[in-house]
Amino acid sequence: MFTSKELREKWIKFYEARGHVNIGAVSLIGDGTTGVMFNVAGMQPLMPYLLGKKHPMGTRLCNVQGCVRTVDIDSVGDATHFTFFEMMGNWSLGDYFKKEKTKWSFELLTEVFGFDKDKICSTVFEGNESVPKDSETAELLKSLGIKEENIFYLDKSNNWWELEGTVGTPCGPDNEWFYPRHDNKCCDTCDVNCDCGRYVEIGNDVYMQYKKLEGGKYTELDNKNVDTGFGLDRLLLFLNGLTDGYKTDLFIDTIKYLEKVSGKDYDADADAQKAMRIVADHTRTSVMLIGDKNGILPSNTGAGYILRRLLRRAIRYCKNLGIEATEMLGVAKIFIEKIYDQAYPLLVEKEDYILDEITKEIKKFEATLVAGMKEFDKCIIGIERKNAFMASKDPSYVPETVISGKQAFRLYDTFGFPLELTKELASEKNLTVDEEGFNLAFKEHQEKSKAQAAAAKGGLTEQNEITARYHTATHIMLAGLRKMFGTKTEQKGSNITEERLRFDFNCDHKMTEEELKTLEDFVNDVIAKNIEVVKTEMPYSQAIAQGAYGVFNAESDDQIVSIYTIGDVDKQICGGPHAKNTGELGKFVIKKEESSSGGVRRIKAVLR
Ligand code: ALA
Repeated sequence: MFTSKELREKWIKFYEARGHVNIGAVSLIGDGTTGVMFNVAGMQPLMPYLLGKKHPMGTRLCNVQGCVRTVDIDSVGDATHFTFFEMMGNWSLGDYFKKEKTKWSFELLTEVFGFDKDKICSTVFEGNESVPKDSETAELLKSLGIKEENIFYLDKSNNWWELEGTVGTPCGPDNEWFYPRHDNKCCDTCDVNCDCGRYVEIGNDVYMQYKKLEGGKYTELDNKNVDTGFGLDRLLLFLNGLTDGYKTDLFIDTIKYLEKVSGKDYDADADAQKAMRIVADHTRTSVMLIGDKNGILPSNTGAGYILRRLLRRAIRYCKNLGIEATEMLGVAKIFIEKIYDQAYPLLVEKEDYILDEITKEIKKFEATLVAGMKEFDKCIIGIERKNAFMASKDPSYVPETVISGKQAFRLYDTFGFPLELTKELASEKNLTVDEEGFNLAFKEHQEKSKAQAAAAKGGLTEQNEITARYHTATHIMLAGLRKMFGTKTEQKGSNITEERLRFDFNCDHKMTEEELKTLEDFVNDVIAKNIEVVKTEMPYSQAIAQGAYGVFNAESDDQIVSIYTIGDVDKQICGGPHAKNTGELGKFVIKKEESSSGGVRRIKAVLR
């Protein structure tokens, strides 16, 4: 068995012997300069140097760089798609060009890896109005011994490499290397262009001499660069004569582990196989993203949301496999301790942290997953019922096949189902999701909570020193209520004027005289202690971790919120304003306790 470790070493050694310096890998998390969230290609960190800046390590560089690409996340589950992979790369920054590069790639494939030169295929750029046909590369390949019939000229959609969705980035025509998985042609014309899957791309030499401008235009760079990328996972597959990427040493132990804990056979059970691949792939990428030097955590925005999607999709597939989601920790440990311990020692250092964060996300999602699945099933039953009913009335009725945006939003907002999860569940039932409707519901919700937050400001209609004092009194009172009736007690409404406070909260009974007295005493006691009211700001997730509570809908875990702390009495997420010290409040007197609505009581109180 050819191991991943050997492959990394061989790559670096080969290029070091040809004057290259190993520059090591950079963080997987994009630095925000290229418009991409993750490092999606080995060349990404080298962008400024490919555009002409002098690199401190010289003009010949190489490395093995981790990349995260989640555009194909839906394809993960087959034999060859992964959301994390390693790109083995080497670069010429205005140094050597086509002559040397074709020779070295050829030598590496034939002499180091033992590929048969008569079977190697290569594709080059056929040219267009701005860039000439790359006959130079084709001639060089021929002179090296690649058969003429195995060299193909293809168009820009095939043999041009650029980073999609970016501008100002380097790009150029490329020379791609292909190899057949086996010798059985599917038809007479079966070659590189055939879509039967016999030929697989193993690497790519980009002749990066252009810069991408706005509007799909290009300008030539002063220096001629080479940017090479060979996928480690792919090559490993080939070198071991395998067709299933999950059977190389990068995955096999995790698959065995999943087989053991699920009691299912990876090779014999197609559903289990798909689920195991998804759990393994998504756990690996999550480990890499959390354990990265610029590690991220699951959240509702940006890269954190992608991580959340990966983890939640893996959690659901654990359920499909019939195993506890916490088995993902066993999988994570194998990646950290056994598979990537040498190539990514930081993972070992951060192991406890990584496992902890995965555990937290599992707990968070599991708290709502079962209820969410029930809710989803309800949506399905609703659609089926409606279809059956309508069809019985009108035989020409076209059945409903779409889950409404509102339903999808409810699954997202109340049960933490990423939209993509709902879409995936829907497609398993041959249904789709109204995404536009979802986005609309999302926007409406955001606007509503913003409006609410503004109006809520603790129920203040007017903001001045007097209302601020009443506002602080409501915080102390709620703390007292929670002490008496438990932390399930929450603010259900608040209205403050200069004359009084009016506060609604959930409570299953009419408060007794005694309880009211206890509450009043509690508040006056805190007032008498002259406790400072301290305002701090921090990310929402941190506030929650510190035990803060409040009627507040954070837009994301990392949204900065303000917290008002009254000694060890109370800690609420709140917009303020408040009194500076409880001593300012005066005497707290409850005027009335009454029902507000079912299960909600109302207290009116004054400060004297
Ligand atoms: N930048 C090239 C690629 O990603 C090498 O394939």
